[in-house]
Amino acid sequence: METKRRVLLLGTVSLVAGVFAADVFLPWGNVAPVLYACAVLLSFLVSRRPYPVILAAACSLLIVLAFSLRPGGSTAVDVINRSIAELLTWTTLVLGYLTKRTQGDRLIGPHGQDEYQRLFDSNPAPTWVVDSESLAFLAVNQAAIRHYGYSREEILRMTVLDIRPPEDIPRLLELLPKALASSEPRMWPGKHRKKDGTIIHVEVGAQALTFAGRPARLVTASDVTERKQAEVVRRQVLEKVISAQEEERRRIAHGLHDETGQLVASLLVGLRGVESAPTLEAARAKTGELRRIAARTLEEVQRLARGLRPGALDDLGLQDALKRQAAEFRDNQGIPVDLHVSLPDGHRLPPLVETALYRIVQEALTNTAKHAAAKMVSIVLQRTASAVNLVVEDDGCGFDTGMLQSGARTSRHLGLHGMRERASLLSGRFSIESRPMGGTAVYVTLPVEEPAS
Ligand SMILES: Nc1ncnc2c1ncn2[C@@H]1O[C@H](COP(=O)(O)OP(=O)(O)OP(=O)(O)O)[C@@H](O)[C@H]1O
Ligand SMILES: [Mg+2]
Repeated sequence: METKRRVLLLGTVSLVAGVFAADVFLPWGNVAPVLYACAVLLSFLVSRRPYPVILAAACSLLIVLAFSLRPGGSTAVDVINRSIAELLTWTTLVLGYLTKRTQGDRLIGPHGQDEYQRLFDSNPAPTWVVDSESLAFLAVNQAAIRHYGYSREEILRMTVLDIRPPEDIPRLLELLPKALASSEPRMWPGKHRKKDGTIIHVEVGAQALTFAGRPARLVTASDVTERKQAEVVRRQVLEKVISAQEEERRRIAHGLHDETGQLVASLLVGLRGVESAPTLEAARAKTGELRRIAARTLEEVQRLARGLRPGALDDLGLQDALKRQAAEFRDNQGIPVDLHVSLPDGHRLPPLVETALYRIVQEALTNTAKHAAAKMVSIVLQRTASAVNLVVEDDGCGFDTGMLQSGARTSRHLGLHGMRERASLLSGRFSIESRPMGGTAVYVTLPVEEPAS
């Protein structure tokens, strides 16, 4: 594009010089004014400003100069011709600017005036045309206006630096030469600032083009803020899962060492006593004690196993495991639980779905116990043709769900995110409804294949 501009620049200068020489020595009449006007017209292809003005001024001077240099003096017709030439030159310049202004920052396609403009405007991603040298915005589409909150007029008075957070600008200036030199379309990560001050994470793509005769970049931004936040939360959930696993292991190791280990040690001592008992009677007397220790050992091992994974979930299925969980909750917290499960008799849900629903109910009940001060809880589990729906609802103090969006508290409160993650891993949906003093309801829908009839 630069070569084309240089050729045009050279062409217009040569044309003006040629016309001047001919004007001095040849009786060209009205040809010279027309050719000067053509040169001014061509100059708009070189640049929008200020080159056409400089060229028009030069033409104007040369018209007068040729008048005084002409051998053999000048006639009245000559004066008229030169006045026409001046008029034509300046009129062409003004018309050129008027046309450019109406086309100005519009994109014109091969099949119609505003074809590209319509494509540009209807692009759902925020898009701008940016001047490669001044970094000023030359055009902006509707999506950018909507997303960033600035009006078209405001944006067209701004540069790329104005939508960057100040701390991001040094890095941008460092990357810019590399980005401008690259002809490969690629996405650059960064941050943008909306009119209301919100900082968003973006991936910005740029492509070189010539716009209104100037080297420019077509810049598109996609807002990846939600994706970034989800990545952060996912990492925190993963960390929590790992630390919960470690905690679990420590608890089991403790249990095995302190409780089970002690009981097995007592069993060993008891057995040695039986071995060395002087009479059969004495040995028999010791076995009663040993049986009690063995029963406690078994109970302890079962308790540890239950903590690891509810046996009922594997052996009896979700319905019984939930019944047991609800009963334990009622006994421990003193809050009645209304449980309604309608699953087809004898039909088991996929193991991953059962585990997810069990753990979601567990977290919802823990939240009720921790935060709700509820008088009662209801759990409803229903199977439809292609999904299973779960609702856990309490009549407690509720909370403002708006704080979940703010993301401010995510690092310490991960239970709800964990529920959402479990549902989304199984392509399901999770939502929570709550109002201060209006109770809390957790809704989960997981897709499952239709039961074979
Ligand atoms: N049933 C409920 N009743 C009242 N407030 C609730 C209820 N469930 C959740 N909340 C509110 O939502 C917040 C987030 O819950 P979440 O389970 O994510 O975190 P947490 O329970 O505080 O911590 P943890 O990461 O240990 O689960 C809670 O701190 C509480 O303020
Ligand atoms: Mg919680």
